[in-house]
Amino acid sequence: MDSLLIEGGCTLQGEVTVSGAKNAVLPIMAAALLTEESCIIKNAPNLSDVRFMGQILASLGAKVEFDGDTVVIQSKEIHGRGDYDLIRKMRGSVCILGPLLARLGVAEVSLPGGCVIGSRPIDLHLKGMEALGALVEIRSGYVIVRADELVGNQVFLGGRVGPTVLGTANVMMAAVLAKGRTIIESAACEPEIVDLADFLIGMGAKIKGAGSPTITIEGVAKLHGTSHEVIPDRIEAATFAVAAAATRGDVLIHGARCEHLGAVLDKLSDAGVSFTRGEKTLHVTGADVFKPVDVTTQPFAGFPTDTQAQMMALMTLTDGISVITERIFESRFMHVSELARLGAEIAIEGGATAIVKGGRPLSGAPVMASDLRASAALVIAGLVADGETTVKRIYHLDRGYERIDQKLEKLGGRVRRVKES
Ligand code: EPU
Repeated sequence: MDSLLIEGGCTLQGEVTVSGAKNAVLPIMAAALLTEESCIIKNAPNLSDVRFMGQILASLGAKVEFDGDTVVIQSKEIHGRGDYDLIRKMRGSVCILGPLLARLGVAEVSLPGGCVIGSRPIDLHLKGMEALGALVEIRSGYVIVRADELVGNQVFLGGRVGPTVLGTANVMMAAVLAKGRTIIESAACEPEIVDLADFLIGMGAKIKGAGSPTITIEGVAKLHGTSHEVIPDRIEAATFAVAAAATRGDVLIHGARCEHLGAVLDKLSDAGVSFTRGEKTLHVTGADVFKPVDVTTQPFAGFPTDTQAQMMALMTLTDGISVITERIFESRFMHVSELARLGAEIAIEGGATAIVKGGRPLSGAPVMASDLRASAALVIAGLVADGETTVKRIYHLDRGYERIDQKLEKLGGRVRRVKES
């Protein structure tokens, strides 16, 4: 298992380019199951999760070819059973359910189970497919959905904490080949849903309203192949913005779409960070004094849960108390105890709220990454801390950040990947 060795106390400076969005490319790859024809997906990030989705599609019979940042997928002869040993490794793989159901009339996929950030149920995905006429059965750890014919319907996808991103993706992918009109209410508004809708529209689907809480889909009989460029990763852009701010650096982030980053930029501004918005760039130019801010995670366009951990690392540097409330996932504070190992003072109250008493100097230590975004927070803290930090288990980081060690090194971060047995 590789570790990242970080010598703290650097100032990040220079230019960095954000890769394609992990959470956009995964459902888009699954959507290629909807047609026999070839789909060309450009700007696909070279990440273990993306290669893994390729393996899952190949296990279903699709031909998947990677060439640099392009993936070509042809799903001529496919079957509908997604194996437990593959599916359990990546929660995002649940988005093969909708396309398999639409294309084959049956999908049998191992239940993804929970993960370190929470229990992660799929009841809303299944509710949506039932509304389109599918029969749902859970047997021996597998969810089996089948329908002789899918028929459009009104589907409400709001859950306990709001809409579901992959649930919206799944229902949208099932509805594009259903008979008649589907209206998804309380749909997720994330930019990754808009990108998926654009891909499906390129395949011949009729979709209106993606990016708003109401998505209308007129089913079509058949879809065809297409070519599509994946949007840049807004969470990677936010992570570099926070890292640049935390190290009081000066970093021009190419591929940052500021319209996808509104809530993050608002909080960075409140925290005293200076930046300039460009058309497809964000230029972070540091901060004189960091100010504490209160952050509550919400569905888009609110503050993203995927940037909560990184923001917490920044808040340890302010002179004052910040309150961070996690409203999307119930146990997404695994980074707190590891940040404490670096000297941060953070208390968790009632499970969903973290009180960060900033201003204590951070000093390097060995820390353990528990999930993707927690790892990013530890890297940011390590860049600032005095001395050496070793972030262990960085395979989490490799799931969602393309060549992050090289990108940081190019910005002047003293970061080295260490191979461990
Ligand atoms: N939920 C339900 N029932 C469902 C589905 C979701 O109750 O059927 C709940 C979840 O338990 C959670 C909330 O709804 O409390 C939101 O979950 P959502 O379904 O929106 O999450 P997701 O689609 O499984 C995607 C991203 C996550 C990101 C979340 C929220 C992918 C592959 N994953 O997950 O990304 O945190 O949306 O924005 O797109 C990450 O990249 O690090 C990551 C975890």
